[in-house]
Amino acid sequence: MASYYNENTILYLNGTYVKATEAKMDYYSQSLHYGYSVFEGIRSYKTVNGETSIFKPEEHFTRLKNSAEALNMPYTWTNQELIDASYEVLKRNNLQDAYIRPVVYAPANMSFVQNTESFIFIEVWPMLPFLGEKLLRVMTSSFQRPNPKGFKITAKAAGHYVNSILASQEAKANGFDEALLTDMLGFVAEGPGANMFYEKDGALLTPSLGNILPGITRATVFEIAEEMGIPVTEKQITSEELKQADAAFFCGTAAEVIGWESIDNVSFKKNWNDTISKKIKEAYAARVIEMEIHQTVEA
Ligand SMILES: Cc1ncc(COP(=O)(O)O)c(C=O)c1O
Repeated sequence: MASYYNENTILYLNGTYVKATEAKMDYYSQSLHYGYSVFEGIRSYKTVNGETSIFKPEEHFTRLKNSAEALNMPYTWTNQELIDASYEVLKRNNLQDAYIRPVVYAPANMSFVQNTESFIFIEVWPMLPFLGEKLLRVMTSSFQRPNPKGFKITAKAAGHYVNSILASQEAKANGFDEALLTDMLGFVAEGPGANMFYEKDGALLTPSLGNILPGITRATVFEIAEEMGIPVTEKQITSEELKQADAAFFCGTAAEVIGWESIDNVSFKKNWNDTISKKIKEAYAARVIEMEIHQTVEA
């Protein structure tokens, strides 16, 4: 297992900064018993100027608030105070390239009734920029994404991630790198912790909203594609059409943009190095460190 903290690590806990080894949480919290908490996954980078920059912090903390509200959890924090706290935790832990994990959790409550308060912590741990081009072998999961009529699917709620864990573990147990989950109707949805796009004839396609987490990286890919003049279509995607794709990739805060080698052992039509997907990956990697690059795509 990765090492997330040591005896010197500091985390933000309800307005104070405490040692991770001394922080306390309530064993009677409704969050622990029922998976009833919301969280974010955010990254900070050392930019080309040497500064520490959190990527799209407003978007992440706004989603955290929306997730809490979707689950009827009281939410009393402003984006600015949580962004300031995040920078402070990074500084206190001497980190620039890091993962930032805020969690909003419930008090002691063994019933299902609504609470009158919530709590928050923000943890950070080192995350080196992803280097190299190892492509993923992806497997269509036997697990589907949660039914949007049974869950607030746009909320980043802890309980949803039992589904992600099952799918990811199944893929690895079968010798694959990662899972691809379908929605209730069998259309392609997303990975356990990332959205997906595929490339066909110079265009990008991605599942429509409704059964997926609306990813902040997904939105960034839309921005990059627009700047590069690459058309993007949101639609219901079948497993059969995906197997005919030129290329495909996952995108998410943690994974950034990561290409696939194959889906269910079917390789993609194009060499990754010749794809516009690879150009998107490079543009994303430059954007997070605030590097100016000018990408062009040949028609
Ligand atoms: C299920 C799921 N889909 C998609 C994403 C990608 O979202 P983002 O790009 O905002 O990190 C994540 C990661 O947060 C996720 O957990």
